[in-house]
Amino acid sequence: MKILIIGSGGREHALAWKISQSPKCSALYIAPGNAGTSQVGQNVSLDVGDFDAATAFIRENNIELVIVGPEVPLVEGIVDHLNREVPSVLVVGPTAAGAQLEGSKAFSKAFMARHDIPTAAYAEFTTADLEKGLSYIKTQPVPIVLKADGLAAGKGVIISQTHEEASEEFRQMLSGKFGEASSTVVIESFLDGIEFSVFVLTDGTDYQILPVAKDYKRIGEGDQGLNTGGMGSVSPVPFVDSALMDKVKTRIIQPTIKGLAKEKLEYKGFIFFGLIRVDNEPYVIEYNCRMGDPETQSVMPRLQNDLVQLCIATCKGTLASEQVKLDARTVASVVLVSGGYPGSYAKGKVISDLTDHADGMIFHAGTKSRDGDVVTNGGRVLAVTSFGTDLQDALKKSNSKAEEIQFEGKYFRRDIGFDL
Ligand code: AMP
Ligand code: GLY
Repeated sequence: MKILIIGSGGREHALAWKISQSPKCSALYIAPGNAGTSQVGQNVSLDVGDFDAATAFIRENNIELVIVGPEVPLVEGIVDHLNREVPSVLVVGPTAAGAQLEGSKAFSKAFMARHDIPTAAYAEFTTADLEKGLSYIKTQPVPIVLKADGLAAGKGVIISQTHEEASEEFRQMLSGKFGEASSTVVIESFLDGIEFSVFVLTDGTDYQILPVAKDYKRIGEGDQGLNTGGMGSVSPVPFVDSALMDKVKTRIIQPTIKGLAKEKLEYKGFIFFGLIRVDNEPYVIEYNCRMGDPETQSVMPRLQNDLVQLCIATCKGTLASEQVKLDARTVASVVLVSGGYPGSYAKGKVISDLTDHADGMIFHAGTKSRDGDVVTNGGRVLAVTSFGTDLQDALKKSNSKAEEIQFEGKYFRRDIGFDL
């Protein structure tokens, strides 16, 4: 089978690495990919937002299966486009209607309310309701969580410790702090607990649960400092036991998939449930319509199934007859970033000592090839993923490999999994 993965990050390298191992995969293309994906497939210079170019490539190369990595093309309707233009091609990813789970926080909150799915209490406001929103803020306990309705590259959530700060942030968001994305703002109550990430593949009726993971978003050790795209991840997550997972299944996963079907929101793809445990009960913090990054780098190594087979079952509606098999070992992924990230940073730094990793894999994110070298090409550069007998063992191996790899300005957190 000829397969195309759309995207260029660490998530896509991890997906490509896994897909390339399938006996069903005869050719693998990644558009646009990075220096790492070119080791397991062929990179194709395509803009992820150019659906016509993707369609032309799919036709010319007889692609039979497409996996869409990032949220932006999904929310913008790439799946609808491909279903219309190349209907015989299998596509993993929700239609634009289904992708609203991530594309609009107001939509997802109302969806959860309609289906009785546990989440923080909320209200939504537009510019027309500025005064109403300011009055609402005054009635809420602090901290207060403000969320831009639309996609804001992971930056659209503000947690304010005072009413004054929340009011000021609320005004700024409605006046375009995140552009069109914050023309509607969701205000929700703060949930105090520990977060974890649950991933499923659904064919719209049935689902299979992939390994549970936890990511670390703050730049600094001990979860201090600015939010990033993700500084590391681990899988499994020890506190997510079978009793908690049973609640996640019956109260969150099943009602979500039933709700999508009932509302005729066509969804064949990954659902990422960003969850929080409060007093041993699970709540939804957010939905994403794709896999997580850097969670995928810890999830894929633990998945023992043929991912191509799972993707085919997702598209053909036969997931119920699949069974997920997990590697019992622990995986820890440590992300190496460019100095200055998540603020401004330099690109084009040569990466040296990028030798094979005996204890796991090195997944590329912001890298590219230049004159025979691999150079940095983004804020998040690499993820070093290791297997271990336990978290400490896996982390020790990832940290020591991360230490070896060199590029100017390299930074990584050494405490991934510190709170587990
Ligand atoms: P989101 O983009 O919705 O994932 O939000 C980014 C981060 O903000 C989450 O990973 C949480 O750490 C935090 N967050 C979002 N909503 C809440 C909430 N209601 N209570 C506590 N923390 C939250
Ligand atoms: N790791 C969080 C995300 O992918 O959004």
